[in-house]
Amino acid sequence: MKFFIDTANLEQIKEAQDLGILDGVTTNPSLMAKEGISGYNKIMAHYKTICDIVDGDVSAEVIATDYEGMIKEGENLAALHPQIVVKIPMTKEGIKAIKYFSTKGIKTNCTLIFSAGQALLAAKAGATYVSPFVGRLDDISTNGLNLIAEIRLIFDNYGFETQILAASVRHTMHILHCAQLGADVMTGPLSAILGLLKHPLTDSGLAQFLADHAKTNK
Ligand code: E4P
Repeated sequence: MKFFIDTANLEQIKEAQDLGILDGVTTNPSLMAKEGISGYNKIMAHYKTICDIVDGDVSAEVIATDYEGMIKEGENLAALHPQIVVKIPMTKEGIKAIKYFSTKGIKTNCTLIFSAGQALLAAKAGATYVSPFVGRLDDISTNGLNLIAEIRLIFDNYGFETQILAASVRHTMHILHCAQLGADVMTGPLSAILGLLKHPLTDSGLAQFLADHAKTNK
């Protein structure tokens, strides 16, 4: 499973990259706003900086909601850096834009997926990734992980190459369950990724090893 970090924070992206396990980055307009990145030039420069830090795909979301606007914005984003993936919302206009980019060989990530039907449409349009939002479904008392399983089944039935990018992942158990269900990618915060490191028996075991070594190596 590929690990993407879901942030526009450069320090966190660098920390995940330094760990050696990072496969890419996802951003969205809210994450960019959280970092205080605003204005066309600054936003484009920030995406380029992220691409220079990481080796893999970097999702950059269009703001336009009409077909022509999405095409124009998406082409500008794609021209910025070869690692850019144009992130497009799951709408009727978005599906048309995904189809256009797919025929042009430009990678896309269809975002705001909350049903298997939406994922199926995006795959048929040729999306590189679909992003089902696990955490936001959990937030409204709907099991987000069930959606990952449904999409996996459908994509496997027909051999769709579209990758399932489990998004809105919030914690370690989301990551593990997404891995068990066969998500191709997960995107989550640095805290969820680092949470996988932790086990009290690892800490106590290491402390014991070091104490025993110290006793005989004075
Ligand atoms: C997906 O690409 C989104 O950026 C993200 O995963 C949304 O996560 P949230 O629901 O925690 O905001």
